[in-house]
Amino acid sequence: MGNDAAIEAIRRAVAAVPSDGALRLHLAQLLTDAGRGSEAVVELGVLLAAEPDHPGARELMLAALTPPAATPETTVAPAPREPGPDAPAPETHSTSKGFDWHAAESQLGDIAAPMFVTSGEDQEQPGTEPVEAFETQRPTIKLSDVGGMEQVKERLDAAFLAPMRNPELRRLYGKNLRGGLLLYGPPGCGKTFLAKALAGELGAAFISAGLSEILDMWIGSSERNVHELFVQARQAAPCVLFLDEIDALGQKRTQTRNSSMRSVVNQLLTELDGIGADNEGVYVLAATNQPWDIDPAMRRPGRLDRTILVLPPDAAAREAIFRSNLAQRPVEGVDLRRLAAGSDGLSGADITYVCELATERAMMEGVRSGNVRMIGMADLQHALTQVRPSTSGWMDTARTVVQYGEDDGTFAELKAFLKKSKHW
Ligand SMILES: Nc1ncnc2c1ncn2[C@@H]1O[C@H](COP(=O)(O)OP(=O)(O)OP(=O)(O)O)[C@@H](O)[C@H]1O
Ligand SMILES: [Mg+2]
Repeated sequence: MGNDAAIEAIRRAVAAVPSDGALRLHLAQLLTDAGRGSEAVVELGVLLAAEPDHPGARELMLAALTPPAATPETTVAPAPREPGPDAPAPETHSTSKGFDWHAAESQLGDIAAPMFVTSGEDQEQPGTEPVEAFETQRPTIKLSDVGGMEQVKERLDAAFLAPMRNPELRRLYGKNLRGGLLLYGPPGCGKTFLAKALAGELGAAFISAGLSEILDMWIGSSERNVHELFVQARQAAPCVLFLDEIDALGQKRTQTRNSSMRSVVNQLLTELDGIGADNEGVYVLAATNQPWDIDPAMRRPGRLDRTILVLPPDAAAREAIFRSNLAQRPVEGVDLRRLAAGSDGLSGADITYVCELATERAMMEGVRSGNVRMIGMADLQHALTQVRPSTSGWMDTARTVVQYGEDDGTFAELKAFLKKSKHW
């Protein structure tokens, strides 16, 4: 019996015995498994209305409201090891005191984030083979999946993709194209997303390394691990090597009192220069929220010599972000354009949060009233009033830096943007 047939059979049984909670829960489970979350939500709503404390129904409601973890890329990393006997017990989402909304919300928080995990984020503590921690992904998203941001896309095309696609150009410019590209801007505005889309565009592998983590994880062996990271990227070539939080590693060398840190920076420079190794097919992209902390040596020609400012999403981008956040949720009558118009200044991450709040509101009201309903414009509009742009602090810092810092032209693009904006 196929899934649909099973679902229909159980649906008939539920109709015959509407008070049978276990049966209805089973139906909801089948619907959730079949990716029919919105139908499951309806069944669970009926069940919770009759039995508000039903723990299985609550957990499943969360699962039904959470889209399947459909990351747009396949992962070819080794499977994570089984948790050891000392591993903490998995978190539960309900407590004896009642429903744990905080846990529920954090679970909902996974909805948009998992598209772009920073490799290493949920890695285990360093073992004897730390190199295995770098996950090699195969992104399937392309630049066309990046909403709006036309200027950034044009710059990426000129600075990166066109030469890659055109071997003649590459020969003509030779070594100049060997360096990497630095994406900078406020948090949550699409740097990681863009880097992945570039890898997808090139049909390249994608390895992401958060540098503060490399430093934390492997004190004493960071230098070797920077080397291993590049070795792994060269083996996976063509490969986009994404160095996230590059500021953590590249902080002005004068600031890095610690000499072991300095040797890590030097190691990175050596690898970027491709000394003793061939970086052909390794495209280094780096990202930072604090470009002013980066060691100028990192920006010399052949290193991270091209910079691209990634600003908060424009209206078209916000529309795309709302769409992808809401695509898998039970929504009804949502006007994406209006949402985009009403969310100026919000980052991608802020918009994700708006969608979580709206979902929580619809879910909470539904469970309370026993009348489960879809997420609608009213929920989203209300959520919009609750979320302030998280980029304001960054804008203030950026303004101070461009106003009072040394002006060597590095932040010309940023300065031009700020001058035109309300942040000046
Ligand atoms: N133009 C866009 N089109 C579609 N989705 C986008 C766009 N810009 C950002 N997003 C979404 O916004 C979210 C935040 O983006 P991302 O994680 O890439 O930001 P970031 O700049 O790397 O943030 P951080 O500085 O915190 O690392 C992601 O879920 C991403 O999918
Ligand atoms: Mg990022």
